[in-house]
Amino acid sequence: MPVTAVIGGQWGDEGKGKIVDSLCDGMDVVARYQGGANAGHTVKINDDTFILHQVPSGILHEGVTCILGSGMVVDPVALMDEIDSLEQLGIDTTGRIQLAYNAHIVTPIHKAMDRATGGVIGTTQRGIGPAYSDKARRWGIRAVDLRDLKKIGKFILDRLKISVQQGEVDSSTLGELKPEIESFLLAANRVVPLLDDTIGSLQGALTAKKNVLIEGAQGVLLDIDLGTYPYVTSSHPTVGGISSGLGIPSQLIDRLIGVFKAYATRVGAGPFPTELDDKTGERLRETGAEYGATTGRPRRCGWFDAAAARYACQINGFTEIALTKLDVLDDFETIRVATNYHLQKDKVASFSTVAHTLELVEPIYEEHPGWQSSLSQLTSAGQLPENAKKYIDRLEELTGVPIKQVSIGAERTQTLIR
Ligand code: IMP
Repeated sequence: MPVTAVIGGQWGDEGKGKIVDSLCDGMDVVARYQGGANAGHTVKINDDTFILHQVPSGILHEGVTCILGSGMVVDPVALMDEIDSLEQLGIDTTGRIQLAYNAHIVTPIHKAMDRATGGVIGTTQRGIGPAYSDKARRWGIRAVDLRDLKKIGKFILDRLKISVQQGEVDSSTLGELKPEIESFLLAANRVVPLLDDTIGSLQGALTAKKNVLIEGAQGVLLDIDLGTYPYVTSSHPTVGGISSGLGIPSQLIDRLIGVFKAYATRVGAGPFPTELDDKTGERLRETGAEYGATTGRPRRCGWFDAAAARYACQINGFTEIALTKLDVLDDFETIRVATNYHLQKDKVASFSTVAHTLELVEPIYEEHPGWQSSLSQLTSAGQLPENAKKYIDRLEELTGVPIKQVSIGAERTQTLIR
């Protein structure tokens, strides 16, 4: 099984970190293809919790090479902080992290711009949108450009002046960002030794039939083209992003795992048909500890949306699903699932990427009796209570994709294979 990919099937925060981590044993390479420090992948090992933002989760496994691919926008300051923290925890990262020459770089200006404008859709304020905008405008800074830091320092100051002229940031930003720019240049200098021909090294790994794991960030419904625009991130978390972000032909991906939570969450603004703005939503948030791993923001919570999940499965071609956080539903008497939507009275509608339309739909729910017992100690899928089995079977039927793993807790051991 040389190439496996893990993609978030909803609006991010599906628990990809744990699924990726569980697949890392026996992997030679783990690679990220899009996004940047907006991601927060939580992995729990015994009493330690690691939250990884840019470094692929493979770093926690000895001998695995970690690639930050061309489709990413990388923040050198955050990257070096993350590497320093990993080293402090005793994880040797030396020679194990490769940064693509073509990855774009998030500078302090991008973060300032995101702080100034990102509030409208509720971004993570990590500079993601502005960095991808500069990439598309063809005046972005690529990782390879960091080799000439004198030029970069001058470019950043010129870029800042233009941003002030265009009203993208306040004139006071110029002075305020000085210390941030200094830290940026120091971190950028430390990032240079990580530069590598990642396309070449991935091709070499594929030719040698090495095991490659591809780690998605965010989720399908946040894809800039295929998500609920404009309430999206600025990259391609969907399967197509793998080819463009890493240079891997899509037909080489043998196993494509869509990760879905047993209910639904979303952070930031945008339509969310099954959102529960009530006590049940609050209960899901508290039981599932639904607070952002990157920003700490409370996540919006709701029932599993099978119309959205079906769409995600169709456009990605998932070969299997990993269902996470099923244990969060342990105490619920009744569990609801949206099978489809109503758009204007009785007209049945499927998922729409047109945000305005999605805001108008009413979910069509079916109800499932809960199992009302704790799943956390189970060691095999056969031990699942009947009602939990029926719930999983129904999600499988509604999405049309086999659910092969079920996560029942944060620990590495709490995963049931079906
Ligand atoms: P940005 O990616 O920071 O530009 O944010 C754009 C939208 O994507 C916002 O609604 C964010 O809350 C959301 N978003 C970005 N990264 C993540 C993530 O890792 N998990 C969940 N939502 C995310």
